[in-house]
Amino acid sequence: MKEVQDYYFKKAQREGYPARSVYKLEEAQHKYGFLKRGQRVLDLGGYPGSWSMYSAKTVGDQGLVVAVDLQSGRRRQESNRAPIEFVRGDIMRDETLAAIERLAPNFQVVLSDMAPQTTGSKWADHQKSLVLCRQALDLARRLLVPGGAFYCKVFDGEDFKEFFEQTKRDFRQTKIVKPKSSRPESRELFVLGLEFVGQADKKPRST
Ligand SMILES: C[S@@+](CC[C@H](N)C(=O)[O-])C[C@H]1O[C@@H](n2cnc3c(N)ncnc32)[C@H](O)[C@@H]1O
Repeated sequence: MKEVQDYYFKKAQREGYPARSVYKLEEAQHKYGFLKRGQRVLDLGGYPGSWSMYSAKTVGDQGLVVAVDLQSGRRRQESNRAPIEFVRGDIMRDETLAAIERLAPNFQVVLSDMAPQTTGSKWADHQKSLVLCRQALDLARRLLVPGGAFYCKVFDGEDFKEFFEQTKRDFRQTKIVKPKSSRPESRELFVLGLEFVGQADKKPRST
């Protein structure tokens, strides 16, 4: 297994990405193609920046990437790529949402590779991850255009199913993705939502 991790680490170095986590997005993109040219992408947990760089390359210079993280990153603008704007902030805070909205009113794709500080307790790490995932889903509901996509990392555990069921209510198609570049022993999974059902398109629930 160490060889596999070294393989992705070296590949990321060769391809100029700061983290090998980029391949967890690339694999999903190759299979489902949810990032498209000209789109605006919100990248939650966007430090050190691999997902943002990959998204900027994929959506191209007519697109936009807004990266948000507790840690400070930098604005980037490279030729033939979308500009990457960086918001330093906690996604749990209203002022972070306001800073995102100053950069773009809405997005076609919301990504989240956010991870909590791990404690060593599987249960606690799962619950902390779910807090971030629920907030990411809430931001997706506010900021995605109808038809948009959501790709979110979750640490698996007993309440995963409930989060996945919530996601199913907002997207016409949902998948659970375990990329090959994610260590098999790691509890991380990715939830993919395709074809966001905008609030206005939702049928009122019968009582
Ligand atoms: C695995 S890293 C992301 C790696 C990134 N996708 C890349 O490819 O470079 C997880 C990030 O989530 C961020 N994070 C955790 N909690 C957060 C929060 N409440 N608000 C914003 N970012 C958060 C962490 O600071 C960390 O940088």
